[in-house]
Amino acid sequence: MLKRRFQVSAALLTACVAVSAQQTTTLKDAYRGIFHVGAAINEQQIAGTDTLGTTIVAAQFDTISPENVLKWERVHPSPDTYNFAPADKYVEFGEKHHMFIVGHNLVWHSQVPNWVFQDDQGKPLTRDALLQRMHDHIFKVVGRYKGRIQSWDVVNEALNEDGTLRKSKWQQIIGDDFIEKAFEYAHQADPQAELTYNDYSLENEAKLKGALVLVARLKAHGIAITTVGIQGHDSLAHPTVEEEDTAIAAFAKLGVKVAISELDIDVLPRDPKLFSADVSLKVKQDPKLNPYANGLPDDVQQALSKRYADLFAVFLKHRAEMSRVTFWGVTDKDSWLNNWPVPGRTSYPLLFDRNGKPKPAFDAVIEQEKLAVKQ
Ligand code: G3I
Repeated sequence: MLKRRFQVSAALLTACVAVSAQQTTTLKDAYRGIFHVGAAINEQQIAGTDTLGTTIVAAQFDTISPENVLKWERVHPSPDTYNFAPADKYVEFGEKHHMFIVGHNLVWHSQVPNWVFQDDQGKPLTRDALLQRMHDHIFKVVGRYKGRIQSWDVVNEALNEDGTLRKSKWQQIIGDDFIEKAFEYAHQADPQAELTYNDYSLENEAKLKGALVLVARLKAHGIAITTVGIQGHDSLAHPTVEEEDTAIAAFAKLGVKVAISELDIDVLPRDPKLFSADVSLKVKQDPKLNPYANGLPDDVQQALSKRYADLFAVFLKHRAEMSRVTFWGVTDKDSWLNNWPVPGRTSYPLLFDRNGKPKPAFDAVIEQEKLAVKQ
């Protein structure tokens, strides 16, 4: 009888220790010394009005990215107006918690007002005038946070899916070397900052080839690019772990670090043609496209956990080449995937559920690190 009671309490103790270990092991502790683990934070988390989100970020992550507040249209909405208040708070938050602070982003075809490309009469700017405007914006923004923002996404999404250069207004007015120029200005504005080329679908063969040519070109021109951001807006099936592995290895071979810069895993149905992160895509609402509005079935929850474990196994394999893994959002409630490409869906792409509770995928990511240590 006594023996049985002892066995029961020993089992109970083991369970309690397991639970409390689970609660006390944070992502940043599990991955300390391996690579930074972070999240993109939104306006409410920056302002501190989302206390649940802010608490999770402070406890779990050691790097942050600004989901929106440093985009051109937010920080520089009209020629003589800079709105730095939210970005200042973002940087203060990161400093308070001793985080690796990322700036997102400087030159992008999206979320940039039309005036940027026009003169006072509304006519397209000349190459020189647009270069001057780019220079001034970068010096103002990067200069303000010099030595405080450690890493900048300098050029965002300059490639098409087939690996050719996107015909953005930057490219059309300045020419292909708008990319070199953006990096040159960012490096002059803060010579210590890490500088990133950031894009989605870089695991797809054609786009990967284009990105490798681009990075090699920048390197050949002596440009101070330190990092490639593989965004990582993934699904349960895409990209394959082999594609992920190939992409990281290929960039590392060119002498740049890799950041998984915007990780999330979409479990909702999507036309395979739409596997990108092109913010301009829109699909009409349809209840068939929102199958888990009342909760995530257990088998999908398990598939999500396994998928996270498999991807982190690849990241851990490449630990020497990786700088960080940043989730694009904190809890499922925050994710942009609730509104893209179909508005008003209930998505489940992150490690924390809508109540801020760690999901099984959270445990899988922690567990994967322990497995890697044993191997
Ligand atoms: O805050 C306003 C709100 O006041 C207004 O009522 C509402 C009406 O549309 O819009 C709100 O702003 C939205 C903002 O997200 C905050 O939710 C913008 O319309 C919307 O365009 C914006 O979307 C962001 C998108 O980039 C475009 O900037 C997403 O939050 C953000 O997650 C997404 O992030 C991008 C990366 O920067 C680059 N890579 C792809 C990634 C996902 O699309």
